[in-house]
Amino acid sequence: MPSISVLLRSCLSALQFVSFRAHGVNGAPAPSEASYDYIVAGAGAAGIVVAQRLADTGASVLLLERGGPSLFATGGAATVPWNASVTVYDVPGYSHQLNAIAAADAAWCPDTPSLAGCLLGGGSVVNGLQWVQPATWDFDDGGFPAGWAWADVAPAAARLYARNPGTARPSADGVYYDQAAYQTLARQLAPHGWREVDPLVDPDDKNMTYNHPADNVLNGLRSGPVRTYLPLAEAKDNFKLQLNTKVIRAVRTNATITGVEVEDASGSRQIIQLAQGGKVILSAGAMSTPRLLFNSGIGPAEQLRVVQQSRNLTNVTLPDESQWINLPVGKNIQDHPLFRLVWNVTDPDLRKLTSLSTAQFLNPSAENINLFAQGSGPLSQSSLRLNLWQKLVDPADGSVRYIESMNFARANGTVLMGASLTRGATSHGELGIRPNGTTYFVKDPWFQTAGDRAAMSAFFEELLDYARGPDSVLTFSKGGRDATVADLWAAGFDSARHFVGSARIGVDDGRVAGGLAIVDVDTRVYGTDNLFVVDASVIPSLPTGNSMAITMVVAEHAVERILALNKTKQP
Ligand SMILES: Cc1cc2nc3c(=O)[nH]c(=O)nc-3n(C[C@H](O)[C@H](O)[C@H](O)COP(=O)(O)OP(=O)(O)OC[C@H]3O[C@@H](n4cnc5c(N)ncnc54)[C@H](O)[C@@H]3O)c2cc1C
Ligand SMILES: *[C@@H]1O[C@H](CO)[C@@H](O)[C@H](O)[C@H]1NC(C)=O
Ligand SMILES: *[C@@H]1O[C@H](CO)[C@@H](O)[C@H](O)[C@H]1NC(C)=O
Ligand SMILES: *[C@@H]1O[C@H](CO)[C@@H](O)[C@H](O)[C@H]1NC(C)=O
Ligand SMILES: *[C@@H]1O[C@H](CO)[C@@H](O)[C@H](O)[C@H]1NC(C)=O
Ligand SMILES: *[C@@H]1O[C@H](CO)[C@@H](O)[C@H](O)[C@H]1NC(C)=O
Ligand SMILES: *[C@@H]1O[C@H](CO)[C@@H](O)[C@H](O)[C@H]1NC(C)=O
Ligand SMILES: *[C@@H]1O[C@H](CO)[C@@H](O)[C@H](O)[C@H]1NC(C)=O
Ligand SMILES: *[C@@H]1O[C@H](CO)[C@@H](O)[C@H](O)[C@H]1NC(C)=O
Ligand SMILES: *[C@@H]1O[C@H](CO)[C@@H](O)[C@H](O)[C@H]1NC(C)=O
Repeated sequence: MPSISVLLRSCLSALQFVSFRAHGVNGAPAPSEASYDYIVAGAGAAGIVVAQRLADTGASVLLLERGGPSLFATGGAATVPWNASVTVYDVPGYSHQLNAIAAADAAWCPDTPSLAGCLLGGGSVVNGLQWVQPATWDFDDGGFPAGWAWADVAPAAARLYARNPGTARPSADGVYYDQAAYQTLARQLAPHGWREVDPLVDPDDKNMTYNHPADNVLNGLRSGPVRTYLPLAEAKDNFKLQLNTKVIRAVRTNATITGVEVEDASGSRQIIQLAQGGKVILSAGAMSTPRLLFNSGIGPAEQLRVVQQSRNLTNVTLPDESQWINLPVGKNIQDHPLFRLVWNVTDPDLRKLTSLSTAQFLNPSAENINLFAQGSGPLSQSSLRLNLWQKLVDPADGSVRYIESMNFARANGTVLMGASLTRGATSHGELGIRPNGTTYFVKDPWFQTAGDRAAMSAFFEELLDYARGPDSVLTFSKGGRDATVADLWAAGFDSARHFVGSARIGVDDGRVAGGLAIVDVDTRVYGTDNLFVVDASVIPSLPTGNSMAITMVVAEHAVERILALNKTKQP
């Protein structure tokens, strides 16, 4: 980088430092020496894709990640006891056990209301590995603005799938292992007209279908942007990844962002400068990007007030109140609710099938360790065994909702069914910020509408009908043949961790009464010149399936639009 610009910048920075002092800001952070064309906050599913594509253009890119390394190839140290060159994140068979593994404790964000990954890769290294390519209607009918129809984003999806294809046959030897849950459910569904499909052939085939899960697995190991995008960026001199660096806020003068304030692992603060004409992209995830917006003076006044009044706790300096940008950040957060329903297998032959236990995954047999070394066996598969999809029409108003169910077995003679209401759900919650900087649900995002509750009940009724039928091989574990829809509700639901919508995209500028959008069609935050959001936050409504693949499609398309801004003259 030319030394003159560095010199100039440090003079400017020194001036800024003095002016901070003059204003009596406590702990005035030291300014950076270098400046960047693009600063991306958060190296998760979206942030890595964005940063890599930006770096491809030769511009200087700084990718900031608050967490540490994850996969073994990135220096991750949480190796498994039976193989010193793979971490708990690398092993697909661990994907639904991470919650219970002490070695992965540091992976979780400490300041969000539900689980999110705070390490290199974000959700993409701790998630359940389900690779559900979005359906066309997730874009065409999902509240996206013009320019984001499936026809517009399909090239972005193709670029993503070329690098990160996912697989419906993760074990390299082509065998499906540990299939008791699959065989049982396939038997339960077949008499009722359900069809087995390959989920990667036609992502729109989601009415009364089931499939072997498509896993985000490559050569028997967890795939995702840390493996398929990050190395391409790291090969470039104009790209820099900085771990253990938490972005506190975008530093803003009126509409223009000039840098970001960051905190390192020791708690010391610094301002990293943006180059003249540069851009900041927030990719901290749907429950953390709102915090960064609030801390930058962007959001509902009631949330900014909390930040303002807790400065003695968090050291967050908001812009002057006259510069606050009143946008409904956090007000449209949505998520898939997830029920966990245990069914007992009643068919005597199917009851003879066994499933591996958690202990058998965590302390695998020599045979399975050996298979894994060859990219095969149960450890090379995600934990899930069967997905099913149902399309429901609301008899009241004709609206369409989808159900996704993810199934496996945790005990012999049972099926553990995860059941979610997905695309078409009309509920949303609200995300706010507490004085200590943690985000929380002012209002929960699930089952706030009668239509959503009715759709879930309709699916439960269908499951119970099947279970009472002559061909049934299952019975609900609580109540058996007498079980009612109320018994299934009583099993309780949790979050599927598929949060979207907290900074939604749209042409309905949220600064105007009735507007819901936080970012415009180019993912630029309304009221700013050069602040962008690219992550699951911008997705305006729930997708049909799990949220990682659609988030990465959104990232591929958004970065193309951001780059196009520099090809045309700006207003
Ligand atoms: C337990 C779990 C299971 C899931 N299972 C699946 C699944 O099987 N299939 C699927 O498709 N989806 C799944 N998801 C959801 C999926 O992982 C997310 O939708 C996806 O990761 C969202 O991408 P993102 O880029 O928006 O955010 P994230 O991937 O969460 O990335 C955000 C990144 O920003 C970093 N960050 C946050 N704050 C800051 C800050 N202040 N400064 C710097 N960095 C910061 C975080 O550390 C993280 O690396 C799951 C999620 C979880 C948590
Ligand atoms: C805030 O800044 C002051 C002064 O630099 C420092 O003593 C304190 O530890 C900081 N607090 C936090 C929460 O960072
Ligand atoms: C789903 O498929 C079934 C079986 O083919 C069909 O009867 C039903 O009408 C379809 N439902 C919807 C909502 O399209
Ligand atoms: C910021 O806006 C205020 C008025 O809203 C104006 O007085 C001030 O000059 C602006 N500052 C800069 C640096 O543009
Ligand atoms: C992008 O455009 C802005 C404004 O036109 C310019 O100042 C900046 O240098 C450009 N950035 C890159 C990386 O080309
Ligand atoms: C911070 O300031 C608020 C008032 O603005 C006060 O209620 C609170 O007790 C203070 N907290 C600390 C730790 O000083
Ligand atoms: C199922 O039974 C087999 C054979 O006894 C056993 O190895 C396995 O651990 C059991 N699975 C579970 C989930 O308990
Ligand atoms: C550990 O796993 C890696 C990656 O799959 C494999 O190449 C290697 O052979 C394994 N080592 C042992 C000792 O099993
Ligand atoms: C933040 O405050 C909430 C509510 O008081 C509390 O439950 C939570 O534990 C706090 N979190 C941290 C990280 O301090
Ligand atoms: C299901 O199996 C469990 C465990 O064996 C048992 O406790 C429960 O009573 C069974 N439920 C029914 C309806 O058979």
